[in-house]
Amino acid sequence: MSKAEFLSVALTKAFIKLIAQQTGLEIRERDQTDFSEKIFFRMKALNILFPEYYYQLLEATTIQSYQEWQKLVLLLTNVESYFFRDKEQFKLLGDRILPELIQSKEHNKTLRIFSAGCSSGEEPLSIAILLQELIPYREQWNLMILGVDINQEALKKAKQGIYTPWSLRSIDPERMQRYFLHFDNQYHLDMQIQQMVKFKYINLLKDSFNEHNEIKDIDLIICRNVFIYFETSAIAKVLDKFHHILQPSGYLIPGHTELFGQDLSHFETKLFPESLVYIKKSV
Ligand SMILES: C[S@@+](CC[C@H](N)C(=O)[O-])C[C@H]1O[C@@H](n2cnc3c(N)ncnc32)[C@H](O)[C@@H]1O
Repeated sequence: MSKAEFLSVALTKAFIKLIAQQTGLEIRERDQTDFSEKIFFRMKALNILFPEYYYQLLEATTIQSYQEWQKLVLLLTNVESYFFRDKEQFKLLGDRILPELIQSKEHNKTLRIFSAGCSSGEEPLSIAILLQELIPYREQWNLMILGVDINQEALKKAKQGIYTPWSLRSIDPERMQRYFLHFDNQYHLDMQIQQMVKFKYINLLKDSFNEHNEIKDIDLIICRNVFIYFETSAIAKVLDKFHHILQPSGYLIPGHTELFGQDLSHFETKLFPESLVYIKKSV
């Protein structure tokens, strides 16, 4: 029996369903061989002989189960990210959306930004760079930029702020020079920018945002290249949670076409040449 064949069709289905329920992640048919190998790998690490026992461990509500999910998620998630990924969307953010938000929040000088599925931090940190450039007296502002992810290894990297040239492949040379210190073929992010962003472990599907004090009255949610890996029904659930935490007229920026087929009746759609964005309707 090959590694890929040790899981029966029924058990494969049960695993896939459980993973979608717990994380939102969809295991597609074409990825199933690869998926079986990941299950096999985790069973081997735990000395579990039968996949049924591993399933029972994941299904349980024990600390051991929670710890195992943390490890399995490392194998199931794609954490690809880089600074200023999708230059057009960042142009729209820098030229239009952020300046408008800054102007509209001038009265209380509070701005709250949520990067959902932030991986190793490149996305929220790119926004921090833009805000650093756009807000003249930043110390007078109460800025919150929160990056959340389900992958603990990616979050660890985000908190370190040390990147390879690959993560910087889309940043312009002037910003690279200004915000990074090149040392030992690695790029160390400026502490001032690093300190503008807070990172947290949160499962977008399962965790209640209410339990986190700062996840409310959000002005801008950016969630890109996350829903492409999600099941349709999981996207709908997370979208509903996003709607609850956004301020009226708050922005939601997904990756291109990632909300295709979703009910967006609670949002206004705004089409810019660079990208489509969604705005929470004010009741
Ligand atoms: C491809 S990365 C995208 C990173 C960044 N948003 C970007 O566009 O460059 C997708 C991220 O979503 C995270 N993710 C997947 N499922 C998640 C969930 N249920 N809750 C929180 N984060 C999740 C993954 O761990 C991964 O870091």
